[in-house]
Amino acid sequence: MKDIRFAYFSRPTDRFRCTDIEDILAVARDNNARLNLTGLLVQTPHHFMQVLEGSREAVSQTYARIVNDPRHADVTFYGISEIDEREFCDCHLAFVGAEAFTPDLCRRLFRMPRIIPSLLSDDAAMTLFRELAADKTLAECSEEAITGLRDEDFFEISI
Ligand SMILES: Cc1cc2nc3c(=O)[nH]c(=O)nc-3n(C[C@H](O)[C@H](O)[C@H](O)COP(=O)(O)O)c2cc1C
Repeated sequence: MKDIRFAYFSRPTDRFRCTDIEDILAVARDNNARLNLTGLLVQTPHHFMQVLEGSREAVSQTYARIVNDPRHADVTFYGISEIDEREFCDCHLAFVGAEAFTPDLCRRLFRMPRIIPSLLSDDAAMTLFRELAADKTLAECSEEAITGLRDEDFFEISI
């Protein structure tokens, strides 16, 4: 049976605190290692974006836990596809924090000064995941994920 790739974006709720990222990553990396999942979690200034690769069963089981997590809401699919090879295999869950999304990076990737996940096609989202994962100055794979943002920097917006 082939592996699958699944990607989505969501928005943090008021139950989410910036310091939660460290706990989310620690738990997710443990679980994902156990289930042989690999992927990337991206925290933009207003959203989460995530791509996961692994067996159909492992991705489905993990998605069921993620979607019920009260720290985020409005989980919206980019797509699910069968894959011949994994592309995000460096880490059980690599992480790119919101501070990466400088106006320069956003302009380079989207020709816009900020990133709006709901405006990305599935292909554009995959391109973004690939570019971020490939940049080892942005994508970290250790337990020490610190975001430079404070809780006040998060706004719940609906775009
Ligand atoms: C944005 C986001 C991404 C997450 N990614 C994962 C993940 O890749 N793997 C995982 O096991 N848990 C992930 N979690 C944590 C799960 O939602 C859940 O808290 C965790 O799996 C423990 O579930 P349990 O308490 O039912 O055992 C994520 C949570 C959030 C908010």
